[in-house]
Amino acid sequence: TSSKKSQYEIQTLTGWLLKQEQSGVIDAELTIVLSSISLACKQIASLVQRAGISNLTGVQGATNVQGEDQKKLDVVSNEVFSSCLRSSGRTGIIASEEEDIPVAVEESYSGNYVVVFDPLDGSSNIDAAVSTGSIFGIYRPTEECLANLDDDENGALNQQAQNCIVNVCQPGSNLLSAGYCMYSSSVIMVLSVGNGVYGFTLDPLYGEFVLTHNGIKIPSKGKIYAFNEGNYQLWDDKLKKYIDDLKDPGPTGKPYSARYIGSLVGDFHRTMLYGGIYGYPRDKKSKNGKLRLLYECAPMSFLAEQAGGKGSDGHRRVLDIHPEEVHQRVPLFIGSTEEVEKLEKYLA
Ligand code: AHG
Ligand code: MN
Ligand code: MN
Ligand code: MN
Repeated sequence: TSSKKSQYEIQTLTGWLLKQEQSGVIDAELTIVLSSISLACKQIASLVQRAGISNLTGVQGATNVQGEDQKKLDVVSNEVFSSCLRSSGRTGIIASEEEDIPVAVEESYSGNYVVVFDPLDGSSNIDAAVSTGSIFGIYRPTEECLANLDDDENGALNQQAQNCIVNVCQPGSNLLSAGYCMYSSSVIMVLSVGNGVYGFTLDPLYGEFVLTHNGIKIPSKGKIYAFNEGNYQLWDDKLKKYIDDLKDPGPTGKPYSARYIGSLVGDFHRTMLYGGIYGYPRDKKSKNGKLRLLYECAPMSFLAEQAGGKGSDGHRRVLDIHPEEVHQRVPLFIGSTEEVEKLEKYLA
């Protein structure tokens, strides 16, 4: 048989998922959950790219549980993500940045996976058509969560709701899979099922994600840092010293470069490929920083570690942090191992 690969032997996400299932890395149910997520991301990609045309820029006129003014696309992408997961029939519970509490999925009839997600990350960038993304993480259910979830008469969270919260509040070390889809000059789905990190670029000609990054490894160091320095004066002195020293040209005569997109997905994707460090520290205003542990910090730290990098809250491994509540925030420092370890020394 000719060993020459035919030019048509491209590897799509669907084909790659089936290979992972065939080799027993994931089961058929998880394969279906991941396919439904890829469908949601394709739909969101097209909504994002046509936002100005279909009057989907601007605010919804509501605030979410985070106290943020929801963008129209925050709400729409949350609905797209939720309905794709519901119709997969394999999702038992979903938790979203845009939902107050986790919800049990009535349509689930097998698999019962727990999916946490940020349906549109970096949504402040939408109106200027700057990179945004979606982030997700998938857990096995820890305990049965009965389907019909509603508040009891006095509005307190009833037992079923509590069960759902318990199922969702798992440490990132329990993640079976995590990933993001970046909506930028390319639409790129990056994910891991626990055996490395793979990137798939959406080919708009026929709407499939094609394998383009066959095993992403974060460089062990990198001279790019991504922090919102507008908050500099609110930071701890040790952190200020760390940032000041990055600007010292030193013997090489070259200081670090600052790059900040304002979208975790965009900044993190560049860090995964070029190396460096992304940070969202705590500050005097926000004691635990801004990013949410469950659907931003843990999935990204899972990917960072799968790619040979690190995700830290400045002192602890993010994946070891057990969430106390769904929308809990933690400081995040993530990227090249040497860069994160250097930061941790400054904060010790
Ligand atoms: P989201 O749009 O999902 O609320 O997340 C926004 C986050 C993250 O994507 C980004 O890195 C960070 O907020 C930017 O925050 P600042 O504008 O405070 O720098
Ligand atoms: Mn938000
Ligand atoms: Mn986000
Ligand atoms: Mn978001």
